[in-house]
Amino acid sequence: MSGQIPSILSVGAAVQDVFLSHSDEFKPVTDKSLHEQVMQLEMGAKADVNNIHFSTGGGATNASVTFARQGLHATFMGTIGHDPAGRAVLDDLDEEGVDTRHVSYSEKYHTGYSVLLLAPNGERTILTYRGASTHYDIRNFDLKDVDVDWLYVSSMAGSMDVLAKIFDHARDKGIKIFFNPGKGELAHPAKLKGLLDDVEVLSVNKEEAVQIVEGSDSEELARHLLHYVSVAIVSDGPNGVVATDGKTIVRGGMYEDVKVVDRTGAGDAFGSGFLSQWSQGKSLKEAIVFASANSTSVVTKVGAKAGILHHGVRLHEMPLSEKPY
Ligand SMILES: Nc1ncnc2c1ncn2[C@@H]1O[C@H](COP(=O)(O)OP(=O)(O)OP(=O)(O)O)[C@@H](O)[C@H]1O
Ligand SMILES: [Mg+2]
Repeated sequence: MSGQIPSILSVGAAVQDVFLSHSDEFKPVTDKSLHEQVMQLEMGAKADVNNIHFSTGGGATNASVTFARQGLHATFMGTIGHDPAGRAVLDDLDEEGVDTRHVSYSEKYHTGYSVLLLAPNGERTILTYRGASTHYDIRNFDLKDVDVDWLYVSSMAGSMDVLAKIFDHARDKGIKIFFNPGKGELAHPAKLKGLLDDVEVLSVNKEEAVQIVEGSDSEELARHLLHYVSVAIVSDGPNGVVATDGKTIVRGGMYEDVKVVDRTGAGDAFGSGFLSQWSQGKSLKEAIVFASANSTSVVTKVGAKAGILHHGVRLHEMPLSEKPY
């Protein structure tokens, strides 16, 4: 550890998110044959949009902003393209004081780019070009010159071989790993389980947990995940979270019943919020409270980074219980 302040390297996606909202055309329409609400855009028509909001996202850049705002040494490692979206990602990270020296450029793909259509009821439809954030090259993820205490890994779009090499390297260097796998990794459960041996903290939502282990509720899932990792966290949106380190089991409820404006980045804020405290030696309980507060704040603002909490923010109590494992 560099002094008392933990240093954390976040590895994974970087994208530009563009939110379009306040449009009559985004009103949900009920599709009777599908029994679902749809957003209908007429072919050939022009749909007026009255609000546009530019922000940047990608799990790893979001996480690095939590670490920086909490006063930790934050570094982001990922791949962008030579384009305005990549520039926007770097500008945001620079402004937040995140170290970007390990960012690489793709010569073939553009920076990941998402257009999010926000309906008046808070639901959203996302059009995503993953680009440079899906074609990972192991040569861009060399930990040789990286001196950190923790590695925060969000989704690497299912590049299991790249992940395996990064994890090997981290283990050899004594870097602890926090992992929040995404869809791409969960599509390879056997390989994913192989990776978990090196993982210290695993954070997944309930739907993701059942793709790794069996269990009928969050607590059972967390207990089963503990066969693989030292700390297991299972979140379940507004229904709360269960976390265990093998000594105690913490069950948290809703931090605050807020109006959800945009839930983009909730999971990232939760995971990074947890690690920002856990890496500083805070208790499981304290880390869960901060994670919950951070993610709750993020869903009240448009964009994945706007609501991330700053250092010194006052937290309030939340429904929480702790029992021996
Ligand atoms: N509607 C909500 N109201 C309040 N807090 C919320 C809400 N949704 C999510 N959160 C907070 O965010 C945390 C993580 O949410 P969730 O379990 O949905 O993660 P996730 O599915 O991984 O999210 P993501 O889709 O961003 O990856 C929750 O534990 C909770 O603290
Ligand atoms: Mg998630």
